[in-house]
Amino acid sequence: MPSRVSRCRSLRGLFALVALIPLVLAGCRGQEQEPAPGSTTSATTGEQPPPQSQTTYTRVEIATFSADQIEALRKGIALMQSRPTTNPTSWIYQANIHGVPVPGDNCPANTDPVQAAWDTCQHGSFFFLAWHRVYLYYFERILRAAVQEATGDPNYQFALPYWDYSTHQLPDSFRMPADPSNSLYVAQRRALCNNPQPGQECVNDTQASSQQAMTLTPFCNCPDGQASCDGCTANLTPDETFGGEFTPQPEHFLGQFGELESQPHNVIHNRVGGPTGWMSDPDCAARDPIFWVHHANIDRLWQVWLNQNSGRLNPLGSTAWTTTKFTFFDEKGTKVEMTGCDILNMVTQLNYQYQGVPVQNVQLCAQPGQPKPEATPAPAEQIQELAASPAQGFALGSKPVKVAVPVPASARDRITSLAESAQPERLRLVIEGLSLVHHGGVYEVYLNLPQGQKPDPKGPYFVGLISLFGHAGHGEESSRSFDITDEMHSLQQRHEWSGKVELTFVLSGGEETGAESVPAQVVRFRRARIITRQQE
Ligand code: C2O
Repeated sequence: MPSRVSRCRSLRGLFALVALIPLVLAGCRGQEQEPAPGSTTSATTGEQPPPQSQTTYTRVEIATFSADQIEALRKGIALMQSRPTTNPTSWIYQANIHGVPVPGDNCPANTDPVQAAWDTCQHGSFFFLAWHRVYLYYFERILRAAVQEATGDPNYQFALPYWDYSTHQLPDSFRMPADPSNSLYVAQRRALCNNPQPGQECVNDTQASSQQAMTLTPFCNCPDGQASCDGCTANLTPDETFGGEFTPQPEHFLGQFGELESQPHNVIHNRVGGPTGWMSDPDCAARDPIFWVHHANIDRLWQVWLNQNSGRLNPLGSTAWTTTKFTFFDEKGTKVEMTGCDILNMVTQLNYQYQGVPVQNVQLCAQPGQPKPEATPAPAEQIQELAASPAQGFALGSKPVKVAVPVPASARDRITSLAESAQPERLRLVIEGLSLVHHGGVYEVYLNLPQGQKPDPKGPYFVGLISLFGHAGHGEESSRSFDITDEMHSLQQRHEWSGKVELTFVLSGGEETGAESVPAQVVRFRRARIITRQQE
């Protein structure tokens, strides 16, 4: 009988296959395409079909870009970079919308007067995906106009490419040539990404995987202790949702990441940026051109998630999510605003699509007079703590760290039986009070890794990754949690479960040496707990 673990593994393979489909389809220079007939569906009425004359811009994987397209991209970016910082269509103005560098950041501190919409990126809440979609949409319009101006072709139908990490290396065009003639190159990245030696990968399979996020059905959770909230599910940790935690109003940095934001989003940032690169620091990240193609992929994965259906929906029950206005600038430098309701169908509302990803399972906001979607009440549940480490605080650096989680005798049998049976109650490992001391580390977490065993993220002891990009690093705390039921079950099957729990934290991709290695303390956490939930 195949174990639960191996079923997981084969699912992983399926998602890898889906991710490859866009690569197989060839890109064309103009990228001007009509959406495939019938590819746009909507579950609600009131949607207007796109005007016939509207172009749908197709975003393709960067590897399918022709030499001409790369050249056009480089010219457009170089033109934006030549504009003064106070011009909303300039490279730095756009990057500062994400974050404004302060002293101590990975890039030089800003010295210009602060401008409209600067420092407004949304991290660590359920606004993460929507805010970044609008950010990319207007950036793409600005870049398209810049490409048209720089190439002298006013009809150039430019669309932003995306990077799906499947080659495990930074796209060639972003690292070669490694000099100022290449506007896609920045030196402020990990050397193993800009200049990989044989056998080195900028991003490995585990780090690039969005498999865990794709399995999740709820878009968002209600904050801890809140029995209900508009449009999101109560009694879940943020890591059990695709899109993150409910918040009544936008906030630049909140600490609770939905699974897609944690991985692959945060992980890719830290892998490319390392301890000192721009991509690891939210205040500097959007200066690196790879930021934009990374985010196009995250935006694409949002649609891939929706397309799986089975109850996956955006949180239209939350007025905060649907009506909060985000401010940006268009290609003319004119201030513009958009809300969650304005961006639900990328084809009909925003005139773009991703190659190989039909726009399905889209719901639009209700028109006035139409009923609002009902929120699904969550069953009342109670968190039961089964085991906890001392709350003394632990620091993670470049060396592996082991943390014992003593299991009281009374909890031992319960853990054993929860892992054995196919009950809905799951075992979760919660790493609490995570804070960022220094940018740049990604950590692998292992359950009961035997002494002397080489940590292997593809092996049976691996639980998941921790990466704290999207934390400003000014003292806010978050937690990360993992479902460890399958890992616990496989320990039992191999007769390695003796009632003891020990966690091992290992710097992910610890191949770095010298200048690439991370400082002694990158991340701290307060304690680790094992919990389960019981329906009341
Ligand atoms: Cu707002 Cu990938 O960052």
